[in-house]
Amino acid sequence: MLAAYASAISREDPLSGLVIGDRPDPETRDGWTTVSVRAAALNHHDLWSLRGVGLSEKALPMILGCDAAGVDADGNEVVVHSVISSDDWRGDETQDPKRSLLSERHPGTLAERVAVPVRNLIPKPPDLSFEHAACLPTAWLTAYRMLFTRGGVVPGMTVLVQGAGGGVATALTVLGSAAGARMWVTSRSEDKRAMALSLGADQAFEPGARLPERVDAVMETVGEATWAHSVRSLKPGGTLVISGATSGDAPPAELTRVFFLQLSVRGSTMGTREELERLVRFCMEHEIRPQISATHALADATQGFEQMLAGDVLGKIVITV
Ligand SMILES: NC(=O)c1ccc[n+]([C@@H]2O[C@H](COP(=O)([O-])OP(=O)(O)OC[C@H]3O[C@@H](n4cnc5c(N)ncnc54)[C@H](OP(=O)(O)O)[C@@H]3O)[C@@H](O)[C@H]2O)c1
Repeated sequence: MLAAYASAISREDPLSGLVIGDRPDPETRDGWTTVSVRAAALNHHDLWSLRGVGLSEKALPMILGCDAAGVDADGNEVVVHSVISSDDWRGDETQDPKRSLLSERHPGTLAERVAVPVRNLIPKPPDLSFEHAACLPTAWLTAYRMLFTRGGVVPGMTVLVQGAGGGVATALTVLGSAAGARMWVTSRSEDKRAMALSLGADQAFEPGARLPERVDAVMETVGEATWAHSVRSLKPGGTLVISGATSGDAPPAELTRVFFLQLSVRGSTMGTREELERLVRFCMEHEIRPQISATHALADATQGFEQMLAGDVLGKIVITV
């Protein structure tokens, strides 16, 4: 079957190890099933994998991709929850020390077919397209958990999102706005700031800009480039939620400010199957559809990877199969 896979790892030139070519069909085992993928989406995770973060040489060749929507063996339209926990794990899948995401230990979703545990499938509402559904399981689920589970965001709060153009960041803006929070964003690009305003952000700023007032919560995925601004933007007692560090993970910690203002710094990773079901319901209730930056056929997936590497994204890059 056709697939996009990592054949080699390179920190400096991640796309040098990307191949679009033939791979064997996935093997299933007890409690697993095969999904015919209709749409998948790219995540920064796929670039990290090609750089060897979370993926070792020993696991190569590895089919990339965490997100998929498709049709299961019984003909049901489904969305795939990408967090694969141990067979005997019960409860919050993101807390399982042995969990992995599709494409880390098991072949990923950028393929004609993907094998997943049956319990990782949730029904896709008929009114949600495969392309939109494929955007939800990683970036949008991460945003949902950051805001509502880890960040405690409630209507009326002011929330700052750093790096407005990315997949997680656009989801944060749309979900937070729909939930009644006042969403402020930063971005390096004027176009991306304008897009964030059109998606529901109340104000958009250049990176590091002085804000009109301090905020209740900050949502971080950028890391080193924005960390100091994030810490300095919080009200006393405010909450900083971090799920990624795209620009680097060793910024000055701003420790004095963290303890003196009694700030909370909370990590967040992906989300549970139950949160994915709630996210799908929330999107349907509020008629929310993920912002799609570009769509490519699987055979042309390299173009999507190039856009992501260049930072040329306004939302999600979708791969159709
Ligand atoms: N923990 C988890 O479960 C989880 C889940 C999803 C994602 N993540 C992580 O979150 C991060 C974002 O993921 P994504 O899929 O949303 O990525 P993406 O779509 O490629 O977006 C990249 C983001 O980086 C921002 N950015 C700002 N300054 C940057 C700089 N100096 N260098 C590089 N990027 C900069 C961009 O903002 P502007 O261009 O608007 O400035 C944009 O928001 C990644 O590191 C990813 O691994 C973690």
